[in-house]
Amino acid sequence: TDRPREQWGTRAGFLLAAIGSAVGLGNIWRFPKEAYDNGGGAFLVPYLIALLTAGIPLLIFEYAVGHRARKGAPRAYRRLWRPLEAVGWWQVAICFVIATYYAVIVAWSIRYIGFSLDERWGSDPDAFFSGEFLNSNPTPGIFAPFVPGVLIPLIAVWAITIAVLAIGVKRGIEIANKIFIPLLVVLFMILVVRALFLPGAMDGLNAFFTPDWSRILDGTVWTAAYGQIFFSLSVGFAIMVTYSSYLKRKADLTGSAMVAGFANSSFGILAGIGVFATLGFMAAQTSQPISEVVSGGPGLAFVAFPQIISELSGGAALFGVLFFGSLVIAGLTSLISIVQVIVAAVQDRLNIGRLPAVALVGGATALVSIGLFPTRNGLYILDVADHWINQYGILLAALVVVVVVAVIGKLPLLQRHVDSVSSIRVGRAWIVLIGVVTPIMLAFMMVRSLQDELAENYGGGSYTTAYLLTLGWGVAAAAIVFGVLMALIPDKRADAEDRAY
Ligand code: PHE
Ligand code: NA
Repeated sequence: TDRPREQWGTRAGFLLAAIGSAVGLGNIWRFPKEAYDNGGGAFLVPYLIALLTAGIPLLIFEYAVGHRARKGAPRAYRRLWRPLEAVGWWQVAICFVIATYYAVIVAWSIRYIGFSLDERWGSDPDAFFSGEFLNSNPTPGIFAPFVPGVLIPLIAVWAITIAVLAIGVKRGIEIANKIFIPLLVVLFMILVVRALFLPGAMDGLNAFFTPDWSRILDGTVWTAAYGQIFFSLSVGFAIMVTYSSYLKRKADLTGSAMVAGFANSSFGILAGIGVFATLGFMAAQTSQPISEVVSGGPGLAFVAFPQIISELSGGAALFGVLFFGSLVIAGLTSLISIVQVIVAAVQDRLNIGRLPAVALVGGATALVSIGLFPTRNGLYILDVADHWINQYGILLAALVVVVVVAVIGKLPLLQRHVDSVSSIRVGRAWIVLIGVVTPIMLAFMMVRSLQDELAENYGGGSYTTAYLLTLGWGVAAAAIVFGVLMALIPDKRADAEDRAY
């Protein structure tokens, strides 16, 4: 009783979904600051090299694994080597953790669309964010009372996500991205053009683009470039393994990886222009140097942007709606892709249809997300979970997969698969990039994060060691244990299928 696998309707549909997954909050609030901090315009050189030598090769790797097996991550890895299924489930667990908190940031952004209309944050957006809005506890804990202002939009986020996934790959995910991604580009373009006409915008752009070539030989700049590429393309979550498993037999894998990789980076650069034009305005308005007003992450979105919106004399509400609307769309399309990884894995494993799988997975993920995050401790849990996932989860999982596949000698097999279906052949060069360059950079970054971790507890004293042990290391270890346990449970159907394959 094998169910026919779902398929994308068009190549453009797959590409838009892949781009929708990659383009996320990181493009908007992480890339601009990373570039600025690491040599400005000069950062583009290591960044481009990182994209070409690790980002796109990794995308091709994930596409190849998923397309070849036409299964979700655990089964696709299992088909390469039986024990590798554990890594697939480990990535599924990572996706589960990310989904629970990524949805929360989308929910915050939805609320801030509304706040933009009447500048609800008042004169002190910083105090408003953690105070009036999130009602954060003074010290971090785990369980706490709900904050209705986050709870309600979060329920909406989950309703939308579950609905899109329930409708299916072609009519749900594909159509949603076909609407959302062009809409995102249009909204964001209007925002950028508006920002360019603000007084001080050009100083912002100068600060962003002026190359500091003296930094080009600095190792931290190169690790920042590779780190941003890994983060931004979200390789190591098996999202691309999952999405490419719905491609037709004949699919241009390398061409698609190039389009998705360059589209994602272009969006980052566009965001850099918009963000720095806006920061230039802020600097001019407050007579501070640009370096004083640069920020990234939630601080940029929920503190700096509200401050800037309040400084605007005309069209302030529209500016806010465009900015937070962009965050919502960029976030939703990424969220949908992460949850689909889990749905696909569960469908394969239990041999069940899409609807029961979406009900099971969507229900469980939404439940944990809603139970844990829209509370007075939500901000702290999110901060710690996000740090561990980004510093260890993705990097380590990607490293293990790539190294194991190289060591068991399956890279040539994947390379032949890629070259047999693609327009541009990757040849042996790809094997070197995936088998040597990528693992070296991944390992290098893992070691660096670990060194930082050991040198000083994350959060510089805001969290107790027990808190970091449970939520950081504890969750990271649980994800690995889950992966191994899942792979240890015998799966007769999978054995039979793999034998027949
Ligand atoms: N990589 C995306 C970004 O740049 C976000 C993302 C995270 C997407 C996790 C999928 C999974 O923001
Ligand atoms: Na991205």
